[in-house]
Amino acid sequence: MLRTPVIAANWKMHLGPQRARTFAAELAAALPPQGNRTVLLFPSAVSLAAVGGVLYDRPDLMLGAQNIHFEDEGAYTGELSAPMAKEAGARAVLVGHSERRHVFGETDGAQAKKVAAAFRHGLKPVLCVGETIAEREAGRADDVVLRQLTTVTEGLDDAQLHELTIAYEPVWAIGTGRTATPRDASAMHAVIREAIHRRLGDAAVQVPILYGGSVKPDNAADLLRAENVDGLLVGGASLDVTNWVRIATA
Ligand code: PGA
Repeated sequence: MLRTPVIAANWKMHLGPQRARTFAAELAAALPPQGNRTVLLFPSAVSLAAVGGVLYDRPDLMLGAQNIHFEDEGAYTGELSAPMAKEAGARAVLVGHSERRHVFGETDGAQAKKVAAAFRHGLKPVLCVGETIAEREAGRADDVVLRQLTTVTEGLDDAQLHELTIAYEPVWAIGTGRTATPRDASAMHAVIREAIHRRLGDAAVQVPILYGGSVKPDNAADLLRAENVDGLLVGGASLDVTNWVRIATA
């Protein structure tokens, strides 16, 4: 691996402000400042400020929002904009998580606009891509992932593409206990890397490609060793301080 590993925690719809604050304090105490890792935490939007308040002296732990709307403001009941997320303490944002795509019906086009909004406001976008089990079994996994990726990347200039972080999260591995093998992950990461390489040439190695989907303390090190895997995006196992610290330091 050539890059600094990126380890990210997606807390999903868990931990309101009070519990998130306590949890973040425990986490900060258990995880010494990481010089050789980029650690990202994605709390619920309502908990961003609370977590930021506890982690003010830990710039090594970067906060992010789990989702944004692509407009800056307006009549979009229930939504959160990039400038609002930023004001609440976010420096990054997850875009196109499979639950946004498959539970809430968000399109590829919407993800392209969200990534553009993130760049407009200086938030680091982490673009999630991944196929369903039906798509994999039909032999369409590569096509689906490349479609999700290029719908976003074709709207970016090279400087922005350079700043993109990508997370490959096969839908069949998320929250199911079924992890892609390091070999499966590597194979898809190579497909993604090749697509970036066509745009950026050798600089493509600097674009981090994370793996996500049932990452646990027991499989984290093997996944991180896999070729083209530059980091991990962790859901369930990030909600336990001990497990999370083991993964973040794997
Ligand atoms: P999981 O979730 O680790 O619980 O499978 C990963 C994710 O959804 O980002």
